[in-house]
Amino acid sequence: MEQLQGRKALITGGGRGLGKATALALAAEGVDVAITGRNEDVLLETVAALQAFGVKAIHSVFDVTNLEDVKRGISYITEAFGHIDILINNAGTATFGSFLEMDPVRWQEILNVNVMGIYNVTHEVLPKMVERNTGDIINVASTAGLRGNANTTAYTASKFAVVGFSEALMMEVRKHNIRVSTLTPSTIATDMSLSLNLTDGNPDKVLQAEDFAELVVAQLKLNRRAMLKSASLWSTNP
Ligand SMILES: NC(=O)c1ccc[n+]([C@@H]2O[C@H](COP(=O)([O-])OP(=O)(O)OC[C@H]3O[C@@H](n4cnc5c(N)ncnc54)[C@H](OP(=O)(O)O)[C@@H]3O)[C@@H](O)[C@H]2O)c1
Repeated sequence: MEQLQGRKALITGGGRGLGKATALALAAEGVDVAITGRNEDVLLETVAALQAFGVKAIHSVFDVTNLEDVKRGISYITEAFGHIDILINNAGTATFGSFLEMDPVRWQEILNVNVMGIYNVTHEVLPKMVERNTGDIINVASTAGLRGNANTTAYTASKFAVVGFSEALMMEVRKHNIRVSTLTPSTIATDMSLSLNLTDGNPDKVLQAEDFAELVVAQLKLNRRAMLKSASLWSTNP
């Protein structure tokens, strides 16, 4: 089993939800964590919680769809940390609605954030991982990336794209000892799922963000000769 102590992680959308829970779980393992998002107040609050673990925690404010801002943000984080061992492409957005009724601008925005966001961030982080001949990239897709459902065309299309992108990248960069993994969780109690009325979030039954974070920590601890290619996390009996 690998020790994570001293590693450097970057988590997009790390201020709240799955990203925050993962950041806290990694900090508890001694990982220095950089979190990103658009809301600086939320990021600052989470940074303070991370620093309480005695690790280095920093934040950068950028929209993942803006390549110039992504470049600036990743360059700041890379300078502060020296390098990035673990990239978790977690930032994402969802709106459900019928294909004909959904605002075309919002439809495209969902694709932009969920797909181009991952492209932009990975594009800036990957070169140094290749140079160092090691790294971990975890792409957060969804069960919506495996099966379509009514009223979810934009989100489903975006997450199918993430699954395809992630598998193709994995095949391309494993020769550099970079482990690219695709996670396809089912509904987890966060702002996103609660606001979409996907769940009541009952902690006795429904996946919590901490469950997702445990999976991420466990996969990162696998001996480096092993990688989790993909995984679906489900509630046992929701
Ligand atoms: N919760 C679930 O049931 C579930 C299930 C399967 C997959 N997922 C996926 O898991 C990931 C995290 O979801 P969550 O449930 O934790 O959602 P959430 O609570 O709504 O959090 C979304 C995060 O993404 C960031 N974000 C959104 N748009 C952004 C943008 N344009 N630029 C930069 N950051 C942006 C947000 O930060 P700011 O608001 O500060 O920008 C926030 O930190 C998403 O990719 C989601 O699709 C969630």
